[in-house]
Amino acid sequence: ASIRRHTFVVREASYTRLCSTKDILTVNGQFPGPTIYAMKGETIIVDVYNRGKENVTIHWHGVNMPRYPWTDGPEYITQCPIQPGSKFSQKIILSSEEGTIWWHAHSDWTRATVHGAIIVYPKNGTKYPFHKPNTEFLIILGQWWKIDVNAVRDEGLATGADPNASDALLINGQPGDLYPCSKSSTFKLTVDHGKTYLLRIINAALQEALFFSIAKHKMTVVGTDGSYTKPLTRDYITIFPGQTYDVLLEANQRPDHYYMAAITYSVAPKYQNFYDNTTTTAIVQYRGYYTPSSPPSLPYLPAYNDTNASVQVMADLRSLANPEHPCNVPLSTSTNLIYTVSVNSYPCINDSCAGANGTRFSSSINNISFDTPTVDILQAYYYNISGVYGDKFPSVPPLVFDFTADYLPLVYELPSSATEVRMLEYNSTVEIVLQGTTVVSGTHHPIHLHGHSFYLVGWGFGNFDENKDPLRYNLVDPPLQNTISVPSEGWVAIRFEASNPGVWFMHCHVERHLTWGMETAFIVKNGKHPEAQMLPPPSDMPPC
Ligand code: C2O
Ligand code: CU
Repeated sequence: ASIRRHTFVVREASYTRLCSTKDILTVNGQFPGPTIYAMKGETIIVDVYNRGKENVTIHWHGVNMPRYPWTDGPEYITQCPIQPGSKFSQKIILSSEEGTIWWHAHSDWTRATVHGAIIVYPKNGTKYPFHKPNTEFLIILGQWWKIDVNAVRDEGLATGADPNASDALLINGQPGDLYPCSKSSTFKLTVDHGKTYLLRIINAALQEALFFSIAKHKMTVVGTDGSYTKPLTRDYITIFPGQTYDVLLEANQRPDHYYMAAITYSVAPKYQNFYDNTTTTAIVQYRGYYTPSSPPSLPYLPAYNDTNASVQVMADLRSLANPEHPCNVPLSTSTNLIYTVSVNSYPCINDSCAGANGTRFSSSINNISFDTPTVDILQAYYYNISGVYGDKFPSVPPLVFDFTADYLPLVYELPSSATEVRMLEYNSTVEIVLQGTTVVSGTHHPIHLHGHSFYLVGWGFGNFDENKDPLRYNLVDPPLQNTISVPSEGWVAIRFEASNPGVWFMHCHVERHLTWGMETAFIVKNGKHPEAQMLPPPSDMPPC
């Protein structure tokens, strides 16, 4: 197999958006960052040089990294950060992924600008499970703040408030026509009438779930999270932070120019109203001679708080489940977990607290807010360093209550804090029910698992019912994903086989929820055979 090598120099560069200029952290001066092209099954080496002012790590989102968590990237989970002036050579080991995945910084909030695509093509001799598109376009959705993103984080953390909503949503790094000083740089996608295009869409936004649509055109979803799906045709899609969609676009309308647009999906919290309510646009421009309508028409998008609209793709998405792309969902499971995911709030005594009613926000899984260690968990596990983490998550039995009730007693709002992980036997079959709660606010949570893709076997609104709900699981053609959004005031059930020894992070991909503690990790133990065991670390692991 060929090994491709890339150089990522993490450094600041100055960018102008919304009429003002600031320095942002980039890879190779590019924003969005460089695209990595690969073929299924390849191994890629990226030499990451930190030439910035702060610590950084890089994560390959959606790459399962078989037996090799060492270069997966989450700070203090699988490595200590790459310090300014240092270098780390990271392997990206592609195995089963095919389609669109991505990479991003996994330290502080630097991933706002440090991110890019990984495009994985079919192996030689195999092809797409759909008609080969004429060409493809990358659509990276993001967010822009006029001030430094780490300052936004610090402000939110210091006061315990929801941090500022962003100043713009972005398509390929550009806000689009509806923002000041932005029109001349709006992203344009040029098409020929009669052709079909593959759009590789990534939600790289730090906080926002997005509704995305193209005026007068339908989109056919054919893949998500680096895995193909049965075609699903829609007027709009909802894409949560961390998710990717591969979508076919047929240029079959009257030659003209059309807007594509994205807005935030947000359940306005009970006490606050935090979301970016602006609209980002780009242009689909037909080639040829015609008088374009002025202005281009905007697409239909659901109301910003339409939760039913937010589940429309999730509800109908199915994997191919055919001989070329089989479905390997575990039909029964040996480890069954119920994890509640909540936003919490602490009462404040001596702090200045700007959260709801003089409180400080926090987030938790099973009412435990994750305490990030100062030595990475992988190293602590591998070298038997004690005192870094506990291996009994959840250490106290999860509180059982009416998770999605309208009003909850204040006692549910007080999480404890700990660094607890869950041990999994090699090849155990795992089911996790992720249950949303209405503690503080019943919002959605896009939960991402490292090291394994999982099958979405069921979901619903309200409380999970362990007697009834499993009877209607989809064990035939559930979609294979790496990031699934627990719907607002609802639950999802996912299944996977713990076949990848290592330490694997699981967390909410809404950055402020991650900062507040909505995360945990799994340690998948080695199997008996040498091929079922973790590989040794590289010699250049960044020191702690
Ligand atoms: Cu996309 Cu743990 O991250
Ligand atoms: Cu969340």
